Amino acid sequence: MKTIVVSIGGSVVLSDAADALFLKKLTTLFKKISNEYKLYVVVGGGNISRRYIQLGRELGFDEDTLDLIGIDITRVNARIITNLIGISNKEIPHRTDEAMKLNFSIVVMGGTDSKHSTDLVSAELAEKTHAVRFVNATNVDGIYDKDPNKYKDARQLKEVTIDSLITQYGTTWCAAGKNIFMDEPALEIIKRAKLTTYIVNGKRLDQLERALIGQPFDGTKILV
Ligand code: UTP
Repeated sequence: MKTIVVSIGGSVVLSDAADALFLKKLTTLFKKISNEYKLYVVVGGGNISRRYIQLGRELGFDEDTLDLIGIDITRVNARIITNLIGISNKEIPHRTDEAMKLNFSIVVMGGTDSKHSTDLVSAELAEKTHAVRFVNATNVDGIYDKDPNKYKDARQLKEVTIDSLITQYGTTWCAAGKNIFMDEPALEIIKRAKLTTYIVNGKRLDQLERALIGQPFDGTKILV
């Protein structure tokens, strides 16, 4: 069976208001996909983790501690998702190697250790499992030529090369709680492992499904 890794942004799981119906639909989609593929779901911490990290930063905590706080939140979100799926692992693994030993058609996990986000965890899993696709389901429709929150004329890119992303963003982790479409160290793995990587809006379940099964979708493909 072929493997897919999907990174679900924490903001897709829980933003300001909880959306139980959406989460039920999301996990139903995962179960449907798992009839055809082995699926790894890596869950992020989103806004909730950023708020805790901001609080910790104001309290003067060091960067490693802020990362650990973020990881805890990703694991809470992963627990929500895995309980809703019901047929996946009950306990959340701490490492990608641990996740790979689990014998479920869907395996759910969150963050692992500091100095990266769950994007890197997902890229690492995709590399180790020789996944056919790495889908990053985030809260924007794709990668833009400039920040769409700042510039009205920002254009969504249908395709972008990994080399141009590395030139623009680098591969070095900056700080806990930073919010970009993909963390910088993950870009290095995508390049090294030549991962077929798609960025899609995780709230748009029709597009997420198309990305997961490798059909044309509204989002951005990273060319490796
Ligand atoms: P996320 O994976 O949620 O980062 O981790 P994100 O980029 O904000 O992703 P979205 O918004 O969910 O898509 C949140 C924070 O937790 C720490 C980092 O500080 C990260 O910024 N973290 C997470 C780690 O240190 N290691 C991990 O493996 C995961």
